[in-house]
Amino acid sequence: MDKVVLAYSGGLDTSVAVAWLREQHDVDVVTLTVDVGGGSLRPGVAERAIAAGASRAYVVDARREFVERFVWPALQAGAVYQGTYPLATALARPLIAQLLVEVAHREGADAVAHGCTGKGNDQVRFDVAVHALDASLEVVAPMRVGMGMSRDQEIDYARERGIEVPVTHASPYSVDVNLWGRSIETGVLEDPWVAPPADVYAWTVDPGDAPPPVEVSIGFRAGIPVMLDGRPTDPVELVEQLNGLAGAHGVGRVDHVEDRLVGIKSREIYEAPAAVVLHGAHRALESLTLSKEQLRFNRNVADEIARATYDGLWFSSLLADLRGYVDAAQQHVSGEVRVRLDHGTATAVGRRSAASLYDRALATYDTGDAFDHASAVGFISIFGLPLRTEAARHRAAPESGRAMLDELPVAVAEAPAARDTVRETVPG
Ligand code: ARG
Repeated sequence: MDKVVLAYSGGLDTSVAVAWLREQHDVDVVTLTVDVGGGSLRPGVAERAIAAGASRAYVVDARREFVERFVWPALQAGAVYQGTYPLATALARPLIAQLLVEVAHREGADAVAHGCTGKGNDQVRFDVAVHALDASLEVVAPMRVGMGMSRDQEIDYARERGIEVPVTHASPYSVDVNLWGRSIETGVLEDPWVAPPADVYAWTVDPGDAPPPVEVSIGFRAGIPVMLDGRPTDPVELVEQLNGLAGAHGVGRVDHVEDRLVGIKSREIYEAPAAVVLHGAHRALESLTLSKEQLRFNRNVADEIARATYDGLWFSSLLADLRGYVDAAQQHVSGEVRVRLDHGTATAVGRRSAASLYDRALATYDTGDAFDHASAVGFISIFGLPLRTEAARHRAAPESGRAMLDELPVAVAEAPAARDTVRETVPG
């Protein structure tokens, strides 16, 4: 290993890693910092990398790329891990991995490095994605194997070498952030019985403290959000604006005990206001524009995409194929959804689409009903045929011998003259 490209956040871990890689492996260290939005870019990060001993520091603004090539496909698919986690961290990793590989090629480096530990999903995502793109690159992870320093040891190590230690008071949590969400773990959160303390949250107000409810409308084209309150909006801005608005109404807090790829259950808190609003709005529009069979089948596709994304398989053929399916399946998911933000909840309260499959003339119970009621009789006769056959062959009647009517309190009212009247009219 002669030259390594390190994914660099500017925090203590990766700053120490710059010096450690140089000293232990005698390599030239180039850093790469990727801005994936949400405040992920620390000011002065390139200077800090150079001060820590990097020969060159790349800073890439990948916010637009992140939204368009990673976040939107996941939204179109409805991909939410274990039905709960909108995958913010998981979606950014393949993008960072791809940029690591590209910088390695430009720099003629023979290795890339990241600051992940050996217990999480992120190490898997980086390693697997990098090797999917270039199997010849060595992947080094000093925090996983080699460095083995406690926080205090890292601070001493940095001070001895004149590396600036970020002054930010040590957060009790481990936080990862990008445009699609904040992921927070460790500290008191490791007890799944403990409610998240208020200092966990940075993007959302306590739902109880939220202002009066508001409505926001989101316009979609082919499953991709393109308008906010009727105005065409740039992708990055759209997500940022929704994060701000929905977060101010307490929307987007997620408390999840999830299953990591490495076999550990882990308690994680997420803040993902835009993701929660957009997934809800997208689902509401799909219910209007997709068939019953598409809606049912697409749940499986969504789960597969969520799992593969979470597991770091973004660059797999399966995911590419499934994304191709989703693209095709989303072509009619265009229209507008009104969402009400109310003290922590985001509820679709209206939806419309030129491609709507909803037919009021068929649905109505008022005048103008175009549905052929009589044809229901033949339909039901055939639809129920297998059940009648089964009932006749396999059992006399469901739960025969134990009639519900005998066991429940029953009230019977009777019209006083009914019996006599009936008797009188029956011809003798
Ligand atoms: N559990 C999430 C995932 O694997 C987020 C992990 C991000 N790291 C953190 N420090 N919270 O995608």
